[in-house]
Amino acid sequence: MPKNGKGIFLKEGLNDIRSVGTIVSTSKFVARAMVPKIHAGDPPHVVIELGVGTGSVTEEIIKHIRPQDTFIGIESNEKFLEVCKANLCLPDHSVVRAGIGDRNISVRLEYGLAQNIEHILKKHHVREVDDIICTIPFRVLPKKETKEILESVKKILKPGGHFIFIRYILAPETKVIPDILDTFKVVRKKIIMRNIPPTEVITMEKVSD
Ligand SMILES: C[S@@+](CC[C@H](N)C(=O)[O-])C[C@H]1O[C@@H](n2cnc3c(N)ncnc32)[C@H](O)[C@@H]1O
Repeated sequence: MPKNGKGIFLKEGLNDIRSVGTIVSTSKFVARAMVPKIHAGDPPHVVIELGVGTGSVTEEIIKHIRPQDTFIGIESNEKFLEVCKANLCLPDHSVVRAGIGDRNISVRLEYGLAQNIEHILKKHHVREVDDIICTIPFRVLPKKETKEILESVKKILKPGGHFIFIRYILAPETKVIPDILDTFKVVRKKIIMRNIPPTEVITMEKVSD
């Protein structure tokens, strides 16, 4: 298997474009725009990534995770998850404590559907989440799946928590996001041309329950 998984993205993307959304992994420019804002004195954060893929965004997120934080990544394609573990040099377990550089941080990767996030979090004894970072392609995903994912996001995020997701800029905005996330406000939008396809990174904050 290629170390960075370029070939697998093309193959899996062509095979199932409605789930994968593209034929190349997310660029580092988009990944950097999606990282959670965690400051040194903050209480422990819970950060979830939906649609880990081969780990291009994961790699950036975990640079910002401290030993006291929790990171759980969820991916529905087992082949991608395998490449992700290889890319991040993680052993082949769903839960690992990884010594990344000189930092002993917890990186947990789960094979599963983002719709089942509540069930997955229960397994890890997590009830509330500070940040959800998501590159699942909502515009091409079946509407029912998008709705289920967004309902879960709404439930598990803390008030004040952030949902950071992408929109391919050539795709029209979907009303289902503001309709379901009606207790959220948009706090940031950033267009990144250096991605295939060009992408907008949108950050929404949950205002209330
Ligand atoms: C656009 S790709 C980006 C992946 C990742 N950021 C990368 O660059 O490798 C979207 C990812 O979402 C995953 N995905 C799609 N639907 C999903 C779902 N319902 N639950 C979990 N992952 C899903 C796909 O398998 C794919 O890996």
